Amino acid sequence: MEQFALDAIERLTTRPREDGTSFTVDPLTPVLGAEVSGLDLTKELTPEQTADIKRAFLAHHVLVFRDQQLTDEDHKRFAALFGPLHPVAAPVDGSDPYILEISADKDSRAVAGNGWHADGTADAEPSLGSMLHLTRIPEAGSGGDTLFANMHLAYDMLSPAMKTFLEGLTAVHDGALPWKGQTPPAGYEIPRNEHPVVVRHPETGRKLLFVNGPYTSHIVQLSRGESDAVLEMLYAHIARTHLLHCRVRWQPGTLVFWDNRCVQHHAVWDYYPHSRYGRRIAVDGTRPTA
Ligand code: SIN
Repeated sequence: MEQFALDAIERLTTRPREDGTSFTVDPLTPVLGAEVSGLDLTKELTPEQTADIKRAFLAHHVLVFRDQQLTDEDHKRFAALFGPLHPVAAPVDGSDPYILEISADKDSRAVAGNGWHADGTADAEPSLGSMLHLTRIPEAGSGGDTLFANMHLAYDMLSPAMKTFLEGLTAVHDGALPWKGQTPPAGYEIPRNEHPVVVRHPETGRKLLFVNGPYTSHIVQLSRGESDAVLEMLYAHIARTHLLHCRVRWQPGTLVFWDNRCVQHHAVWDYYPHSRYGRRIAVDGTRPTA
């Protein structure tokens, strides 16, 4: 295995403060995810708490907050600390334009996110991140976990020759692909954009792999056959390299905030015919750049 760099950013564990506003951040794995304890997101965070959460987000990429009994307003207020809210791509008529319902039950024929992906990468400016708050977990009491994969490490673990090959390539991300076999809602303008295959995180500058199965149609500089083979190899690398992954087991009231710029996720649908329900709010991002 090639030598790879672990997170360059200092990890945050505990930040003791005498005024009682401290909280703890416990890593889920050495390279991805952390559980944050001691914060009540129904309350406004202090500037110091907000700064620490932002640091933890950049260091761990996926933050898990337990036992949060949130209204939509609480959820939106917390999301807005990270930037303007990102509208839902194809909102259901009459619904809140910033809240995506994630719902599955015995009548579901498919569920959102059941495969490795990043959200909305066909957009010119995909979201910075998403916050999903689940209020219902499968009745069986298990199943419905979400897996996350660290795209910095996915890049770092490639061979030097493969890194050199991918540098400078661009890929088309096509918003029509996830709708294959279905009709997008009337008026939905399907996004299609070209992004570098290797991009830099806009806040940390760290490189990462930026292609994903549901949205990436092809690598522009390669023939179709070459592009399919390279993308398939990269997706297998992402799916099979467990060192890149962390797993979140949900409870009612869990909120998870992931960095959509450097993490892919996979909502595992292993609980049919049971039900699972939550609400997701995303934050605006910027154009991915090499
Ligand atoms: C998604 O945002 O893709 C769904 C995530 C989940 O249901 O865990």
